Amino acid sequence: MTISDPGTGRRVFHPTVLDLGDVVLRPWGRALDVPGGIGPALVAAAADPAIARWTPLSSSGPIDPEAYLDRCETGWAEGSAAAFAAVDATDDSLCGNAYLGWTNRDDGVAMVGYWVLAAARGRGLAARATTAVTRWAVEHADVRRIELYHAVGNEASCRVAERAGFPYEGTLRASYTYGGGVYVDEHLHARLASDPFTE
Ligand SMILES: CC(C)(COP(=O)(O)OP(=O)(O)OC[C@H]1O[C@@H](n2cnc3c(N)ncnc32)[C@H](O)[C@@H]1OP(=O)(O)O)[C@@H](O)C(=O)NCCC(=O)NCCS
Repeated sequence: MTISDPGTGRRVFHPTVLDLGDVVLRPWGRALDVPGGIGPALVAAAADPAIARWTPLSSSGPIDPEAYLDRCETGWAEGSAAAFAAVDATDDSLCGNAYLGWTNRDDGVAMVGYWVLAAARGRGLAARATTAVTRWAVEHADVRRIELYHAVGNEASCRVAERAGFPYEGTLRASYTYGGGVYVDEHLHARLASDPFTE
């Protein structure tokens, strides 16, 4: 597969590994090696009640790991989406996910998303991963504005957004369905490439 560049210069995400110390962010794809296998790890993640409730991972039915990995590999090959698995630095077990993809490549607008497995929660991983991925995208892919959406009821995600330097910008009414056909209100948070990184 060729890497497409729509003429916007550096607006291409190239596969990268980001080291957070206790956790490493690695591109999602079939080459990823986690204990027990990547397919079962994805099925377990999609079955987590909070991940099922608040993310699109299984909103259109049971997760198909092959299709999921296909989408991730295509995103990397086209430079259009950077999907990272967060794995434990010691034993490579899956801890979570951090995603950044273009929503308007010509204008340099991207969005981020994340989830963390229950066993890895409570140590600020989502905010740290979001900060690292955002910084990398600003420095290496010419991202201008990064948006973050979460369901209004998802207070943990609201905290993650603020902690990662994405201030609240407004509430979108009935903007997204996380499954079940019900559209919920969402908060929009965003940061600009020009916003300083404090960490
Ligand atoms: C949101 C999520 C990624 C956060 O995981 P994490 O990085 O381990 O977060 P932590 O447990 O370290 O908590 C981060 C912050 O949220 C707060 N928080 C955690 N759970 C909370 C809850 N249920 N209600 C309110 N605040 C909560 C913490 O106190 C902390 O606040 P602080 O930064 O002010 O100290 C995780 O809960 C998750 O995967 N949820 C399901 C998937 C999801 O919601 N993804 C985002 C979709 S937009």
